[in-house]
Amino acid sequence: MPFIHSPKPWQLPERLVTSESTFFNRRQFIKGLVGAGIAGAALPLVGCQSGQNADNPVVGVRNLAAMLNEQFRDPGRPLTNEMLAASYNNFYEYGNSKHIWRDAQALQTDPWQVEVSGLVKNPRTYDLDDLLKRFPLEERIYRFRCVEAWAMVVPWLGFPMRLLLEEVEPTSAARFVRFTSYYDPQITKGPTFPPSQFLPWPYTEGLRVEEMANDLAFFAVGIYGHTLPRQHGAPLRMVVPWKYGFKGAKSVVKIEFIDTQPATYWNTINSNEYKFESNVEPDVPHPRWSQAKERLIGPGNKFDWEEVPTLLYNGYGDYVAQLYQRS
Ligand code: MTE
Repeated sequence: MPFIHSPKPWQLPERLVTSESTFFNRRQFIKGLVGAGIAGAALPLVGCQSGQNADNPVVGVRNLAAMLNEQFRDPGRPLTNEMLAASYNNFYEYGNSKHIWRDAQALQTDPWQVEVSGLVKNPRTYDLDDLLKRFPLEERIYRFRCVEAWAMVVPWLGFPMRLLLEEVEPTSAARFVRFTSYYDPQITKGPTFPPSQFLPWPYTEGLRVEEMANDLAFFAVGIYGHTLPRQHGAPLRMVVPWKYGFKGAKSVVKIEFIDTQPATYWNTINSNEYKFESNVEPDVPHPRWSQAKERLIGPGNKFDWEEVPTLLYNGYGDYVAQLYQRS
């Protein structure tokens, strides 16, 4: 597979990457200033000097190096501004606001382990570092389509799911894969409405084994040239770009190979609205809205949405159409 290593315009220079300690120290610092009654005067200066401020949603990240996979260099649409992508998220473990990034900072990502089990010849538990050493990182610019009819284009860093599949070797009995997100009710408090205790936690998603083996299926550990900010599902999330965004579980801790279709979070909440398969299909409306068009975030640095036609399989039919029969 041809790869090209080139500097990316979205890669943050080291000096602009806000480390976790800088971020939290800044908040302490600001609190102190507020107490002393001088925050208003001092804050603009602080922001200018460092190029960061408490409104920067890209926190707690470090730069990652990866080769750009040529096949996924041109998504045919402009790249979404990183600040918009990082401040418009769905992560219900931390509430149901789109502007969840501050609450998502409660997630602890180090240490992190991913357990792979079930119908495989080589079950094992990986430390995150182990995964990073094992599988060479690559960068892929993918279109992303949420079932709510908004869309973006982002550069993910990670590795194809197929590599993990080859290593653990599913047995012939394995037909489905269940992915489970991190859940600890002390930290992932969920939305206040609907009350969190009535929701089917932990967040789970599922694929057929052949879907996981598809070239497009990807585990992302980074975005825009650095590790994933927590709100995007740090430290490791699924990316299956021909499906609606909810199929991409964030902050994955468990991957199980099983013989029956697993119950999944949204399908359990409402099986009529959120099907297990949930491929992007413009001619199949959601029961409450059309899927024929989508609103692209941006495309500049403001939320001034651009409406564009939805593409079958989000434009990835060449890779995945053979997996499905459409009536
Ligand atoms: N994974 C978990 N664990 N929890 C979630 O609430 N939301 C899903 C998906 N993965 C979600 C999740 C939905 S509905 C979407 S559209 C995408 O994450 C949003 O990804 P982003 O916030 O990185 O854009």
